[in-house]
Amino acid sequence: MKIHILLGAPGSGKGTQAKRLVQKRSLIHLSTGDILRDAVSKGTEIGLRAKALMASGKLVDDDTVNGLVFARLQNESGDVLFDGYPRTLQQAESLETFLSSQGISLGFVIDIFVPESVLEARVVDRMVCSNNDCGAIYHLVTKRPHQEGVCDVCHSPLKHRADDCSEAFRSRMVEFNKTFQPLQAHYKGRPNYRSVDGNLAPDAIHATILDLFQEQA
Ligand code: AP5
Repeated sequence: MKIHILLGAPGSGKGTQAKRLVQKRSLIHLSTGDILRDAVSKGTEIGLRAKALMASGKLVDDDTVNGLVFARLQNESGDVLFDGYPRTLQQAESLETFLSSQGISLGFVIDIFVPESVLEARVVDRMVCSNNDCGAIYHLVTKRPHQEGVCDVCHSPLKHRADDCSEAFRSRMVEFNKTFQPLQAHYKGRPNYRSVDGNLAPDAIHATILDLFQEQA
């Protein structure tokens, strides 16, 4: 079992790339944002605590997120692709302790870089499939569904995420700018760290990431 990580700012394309990569490689996609949104929609204890934090663009506390992730990893046996985790240096260090205790190795750390100036437009015009099992990602300008408001994949209605407004986006960027530099420094320079230009078209980014995995195979 191996763990791969997608790093990047809100709207950098982690979810878009993760969904495409898992269709080509045998990987389990673990998005902490999706896990937390599922907890919010089910009204679990964690979901009730996380709801307001997420809607306002604040991070959920490290211990809660680490607990959710480690519980999921204990039930998985295949290679995993993280999207949105780890998000802080504390999460990265806890993950490493957990992985070494379980004999799991770290694979690629792919850092998707997109200039801050283009991120807000990506996020505020994003639409997502309301069916959590699908979760297909759209954009009102650059990736429109064939039928307005309807998912191309599973035909469920599309919705806006609660945190996809300008105000929450700015708060998410404040959190990102506070936490990202130490996280990136933790991974940069390691043999499996790669920085990818996230301002290219999704197809080009996907091809770059796929090449990395094929080189390793
Ligand atoms: P999370 O769901 O992880 O959100 P995020 O990191 O802010 O990232 P996004 O999902 O907004 O963006 P993305 O990079 O996946 O981009 P996407 O592919 O959708 O987290 C949400 C919240 O949960 C957090 O704020 C926090 O509260 C909590 N949380 C989650 N994990 C946590 C953790 N580890 N610790 C603590 N709290 C945590 O693309 C965005 C848009 O751009 C789409 O419309 C897409 O079509 C478009 N697009 C994608 N790629 C391209 C491209 N190459 N060119 C043009 N457009 C593109």
